[in-house]
Amino acid sequence: MKPNMSVGEILDALRVNAALPEELSEATPPQLYSSQEVMDLEIQRIFNKEWHCVGREDAFEAPGTYRTAIIGRDPVIVLRDRDGVLRAMSNICRHRMSTLLEGEGQLQTRITCPYHAWSYSLDGHLKAALHMRDNFDVTSCRLPQFRVEIWFGWVYVNLDPGAELLAPRLAGLEKRYESYKVASYRSLFTAEEVWDTNWKILVQNFMDLYHLFWVHAETVEHALPTRLTEAIPGGEGYAVSEQLRVEGTSFEYDDAMEVTNPDIDERLKSVVPLIAVFPTQVMSISPERTFWLSLQPLAVDKVKVFWGVDVYPGSFPEGEEGVRRKEQLRASFDRINNEDKGIIANIARNAAALHAEPGRMSPKELSIVDFQRYLARMLCD
Ligand SMILES: [Fe+2]
Repeated sequence: MKPNMSVGEILDALRVNAALPEELSEATPPQLYSSQEVMDLEIQRIFNKEWHCVGREDAFEAPGTYRTAIIGRDPVIVLRDRDGVLRAMSNICRHRMSTLLEGEGQLQTRITCPYHAWSYSLDGHLKAALHMRDNFDVTSCRLPQFRVEIWFGWVYVNLDPGAELLAPRLAGLEKRYESYKVASYRSLFTAEEVWDTNWKILVQNFMDLYHLFWVHAETVEHALPTRLTEAIPGGEGYAVSEQLRVEGTSFEYDDAMEVTNPDIDERLKSVVPLIAVFPTQVMSISPERTFWLSLQPLAVDKVKVFWGVDVYPGSFPEGEEGVRRKEQLRASFDRINNEDKGIIANIARNAAALHAEPGRMSPKELSIVDFQRYLARMLCD
């Protein structure tokens, strides 16, 4: 394909791609992964308008707990205020635009800028600024506040005050999977990494049932074989597919763990759905655990991956056995992530090549088609 296509030509190619009938579906036009102009457009039309996962609600239980994230180009703070309200606000000082907080942690009563010590209350009001003239009124400043929504125990933030609620777009998922009671799962661990790929390649890779038997032949395939997977038609805001667990197997642990989630539908006991909550969250849910990734693009070929595992509290052992299980889970998911990293880094590099040509896709890649159609709806007017 032509490496120097205009953004209009790239969007035309996406429109054509998204309009293909399912049985003729093709991989994403590569320029969509490599173009800086496309990324700029994604920030305007996707990142500034959609809901983004910033972690699990139970990670914000203690008053003053905070975590930072980047949504599009906007750094944000999510915190539990002393009054119990979970808030999201801009992480940019109203003075000279320094970043206020880094990473995650615990606040007492103030957010203090590291540059000139402007200090804000946990609801974002400026409370103190030293060495200013008398004509400056600190009460005139507040950090811009953003909307927060909880779904299945995850916390989502939206920069757009006019955005529609998230939950109604995910109603199809809620109906199908509510008996897992995912909101009751407890955070086991989280991790943050930077992967060398385009964020969309990572979403597609996670939803790709087709690569499991080959890339993950030594890890996932024996427990969740590709032949027992099925992509299900998605919704406006999500894609979904289902894997079936071979009875008594596990790729997460060295032995199968007994599942004690008593509320779960009989059908779901052996089902492991793979879900993309568009645009930036992907997850795998089983009766005893979740495994999820939330993506924050840093550049066309770099993405910050905030990921975690949560466990159904009734299934997960306490004490030493719990520690052992946690280490096994961490090692298993690290290994699976590592099996993917090199491949999707290569795809991002190859996307800029003269001879990168998208090819026909398998029915096991239908969730990728759902995502391509979502991108076309969001990016092509
Ligand atoms: Fe994979």
